[in-house]
Amino acid sequence: MTASPPDLALPACDITVFGGTGDLALRKLLPGLYEREREGQLHADTRVVAVSRHRLDDAGYRELVADALHDHVPADRLEAGPLHRLTRRLHHLELDATRPDDWDRLHAVLKEHPATTDDRIRIFYLAVHSELFGPVCGRLADLGLATPESRVVLEKPIGTDLASSHLVNDAVGSVFEERQIFRIDHYLGKESVQNLLVTRFANTFLEPIWNSRWVDHVQITVSETLGVAGRGDYYDRAGALRDMVQNHLLQMLCLVAMEPPTYVGGDAHDAVRDEKLKVLRALAPLTGRDVDRLTVRGQYTTYGEEIGRPSTTETFVALRAEVQNWRWAGVPFYLRTGKRLARHESTIEVVFKEPPHAMFPHSEGTTTPNRLTVRMQPDEGMQLHLTAKHPGPGGIRLHPVSLDLSYADAFEHRSPDAYERLLLDIMRGIPTLFMRRDEVEAAWTWVEPILEQWQSSAVEPVRYHPGSTGPAAATTLLAREGRTWQETR
Ligand code: BG6
Repeated sequence: MTASPPDLALPACDITVFGGTGDLALRKLLPGLYEREREGQLHADTRVVAVSRHRLDDAGYRELVADALHDHVPADRLEAGPLHRLTRRLHHLELDATRPDDWDRLHAVLKEHPATTDDRIRIFYLAVHSELFGPVCGRLADLGLATPESRVVLEKPIGTDLASSHLVNDAVGSVFEERQIFRIDHYLGKESVQNLLVTRFANTFLEPIWNSRWVDHVQITVSETLGVAGRGDYYDRAGALRDMVQNHLLQMLCLVAMEPPTYVGGDAHDAVRDEKLKVLRALAPLTGRDVDRLTVRGQYTTYGEEIGRPSTTETFVALRAEVQNWRWAGVPFYLRTGKRLARHESTIEVVFKEPPHAMFPHSEGTTTPNRLTVRMQPDEGMQLHLTAKHPGPGGIRLHPVSLDLSYADAFEHRSPDAYERLLLDIMRGIPTLFMRRDEVEAAWTWVEPILEQWQSSAVEPVRYHPGSTGPAAATTLLAREGRTWQETR
């Protein structure tokens, strides 16, 4: 979305990662930084200060990270030179938030560099639960570490409902200005998600048909084969609606549904976010009986066993949303996400209407609605599904075909992980791909009545078998309206 040249020099940064030994840091942040190191983009003076409750010295942490990089960076990209350069930048501090001495040590490390000007940027990456965002920011302010040039990075979900997200945003906002706050939704860093914007707005052919006149409905699916391994405590408190729908799926819906922003990139950081916000605010509220009718909550049958206790948390959600504005009135947006499903696949399907008049009544085969598939995972690409004539004499035989764009084939370029792109934007201070406070709160405003209705109706999630496509009720949700989920390419 932003048009920053790849070689734009990065400033020297002190990146303090709270939760520095956690899953996210080891699986995504450090591999992301490694890739940027490999490209020679990190400033020579950039340091990474990992903070956690583990008793580890710098050497121990460097070893931990080297092991993680072996696990999470493809072997053909792991080279001794950049690995050595990156690990030399790493430091570890044991920090128990309740112990003042621990904070003093962080203070001492960061104060080695004054950071009073923007030639060294302090980045505080909070890869911890959002309950800690306020207290951590408060301490940073007390210690004088949060300077006007500093940035704070928040991982989603921000809060667990609207009220708690207000509290978290207020607490963080009392220390950092909105321009300094980078709320991550890593789906916005995915190449294919950004390419959706380019496809929509750098071409002319889609815009005239991108509306309720020609679009029958939209499907957004994030289907995962993994369970909640190792994250049971967090996940069981969150569930699929908070973990995936409130952020990733709604953000994708916004990019599909939003009006063309005036500009994308450059200094117009708010142009895209303003348009996304309008979509979130135009979502038809789902409340009361509509929630029972238009949402499906599921849980895979082995979930309780996996987390070691019985639970009513949902691991699957399907729902029908509508955007109430001129462009989209009456077009269903079906969202679906779940864990331990048959396929690892994330897609957006824009399904167009049938031709208005059946011109080939005597032909073999039928027309299939045109469909644009944006594939985010596993292999990024795009497909346009059409009906074509099967070659050969003897009348017209209709046949479904597709125009297929695979990024891997079209661009001989490795597709970077979302975090690589987002880390660069944080270091450069470009907030376009990050969620603004008003967006997060608008998303909670829409999601909250669903959570409330689920809670008050006390309906247990429907069970589905691991390795299936989810509960049958999700199929019924579309079947009632004469539609089906697009399961295959
Ligand atoms: C995270 C969720 O934000 O996104 C996880 O917390 C989920 O539960 C993950 O597995 C999915 O991301 P991706 O990029 O693997 O589709």
